[in-house]
Amino acid sequence: MRKFAKSVAAIAAISALALTGCGREEAAPAEGGDAAASGFEAGSAIGVALPQKTSENWVLAETLFNDGLTEAGYEPNVQFANGGVSEQQNQVSSMITNGVKVLVIGAIDSAQLGTQLAQAKEAGIPVIAYDRLLTNTENVDYYVAYDNFQVGELQGQALLDGMKAAKPEGPYNIELFAGSPDDANAKVFFDGAMSVLQPEIDNGNLIVTSGQETFEQAVTQGWKAENAQRRMDTLLSGSYGSTELHGVLSPNDTLARAILTSVEGAGKPLPVVTGQDSEVESVKLIMEGKQYSTINKDTRALVEHVIEMVGNLQAGEEPEINDPDSYDNGVKTVPAYLLEPQIVTKDNAAEAYANDPTLSALTK
Ligand code: BGC
Repeated sequence: MRKFAKSVAAIAAISALALTGCGREEAAPAEGGDAAASGFEAGSAIGVALPQKTSENWVLAETLFNDGLTEAGYEPNVQFANGGVSEQQNQVSSMITNGVKVLVIGAIDSAQLGTQLAQAKEAGIPVIAYDRLLTNTENVDYYVAYDNFQVGELQGQALLDGMKAAKPEGPYNIELFAGSPDDANAKVFFDGAMSVLQPEIDNGNLIVTSGQETFEQAVTQGWKAENAQRRMDTLLSGSYGSTELHGVLSPNDTLARAILTSVEGAGKPLPVVTGQDSEVESVKLIMEGKQYSTINKDTRALVEHVIEMVGNLQAGEEPEINDPDSYDNGVKTVPAYLLEPQIVTKDNAAEAYANDPTLSALTK
């Protein structure tokens, strides 16, 4: 199913980027959803609960949801929860009390909104998990995201490719970083990357010098740069006295920059470092040859699909999904719409960002 889902997602992503809105004919209808049963009035309030501003994509999503929902005739109620989980719980509760007709949620902690989601169900409000899956609840109707496992696979492969380009023969000394354990995406990114890296660790081509190979050892609480930088400092002083570091798996750009700062601070040569999100500062570092790769997950296409789904729900129609069975949240399999992520290195940056004025300016 993954392959089918990916090919449909690719078509959808391309069409969304081209803003044609077509090419999605192959997508399967959602199975057994009752969220769309009744529809609601045009002009209704739509709640969008965003997490903390841990990366640029979330900040961009705020603007895109506000503008896109307004343009489509809704009344957006978009909120960040920089104060943490309890703030997000309160925001979601208030959105429900204030009568939003759809809830779009990018959770801080994927497993901590159970009570509020039960409240939403009770009120007949459909729930779309945005970018991050909502776990351990049956009260989530749809999931819209870039294919997280594929993001990890692309990162793992980029790490191998980058190190090979820098030094044609192994073995290579590496370190592994993962995202925040309360974000359901973090483990999926890591598992995707390890599906590529583990065989190379097993055959001796890759050496995790610190020995810290598990997700639990690699996590970065809260996706915070300072936590990654501190861990990298410790790894360097503990394991890289005279040993060369060739590569670091970083799950996103914010952490990649923290890792590079740590290595620079230790006065060591920069290793190959992966990333994700195509953040402005990281795209600059990629063009300077300091960060090796990032991932292009165009937030515009993601938000656009969610707004399309809101339109379907308003009309009482089932929204389009293209992956009915990959995302098990511990209680149910959540019907998903997955878009295809793209790896970006210095080699393809100009092409990858051709339709993004801000990023393409950096590649000239
Ligand atoms: C997103 C990533 C982002 C991370 C930190 C994840 O859930 O999928 O794109 O880098 O959160 O904000």
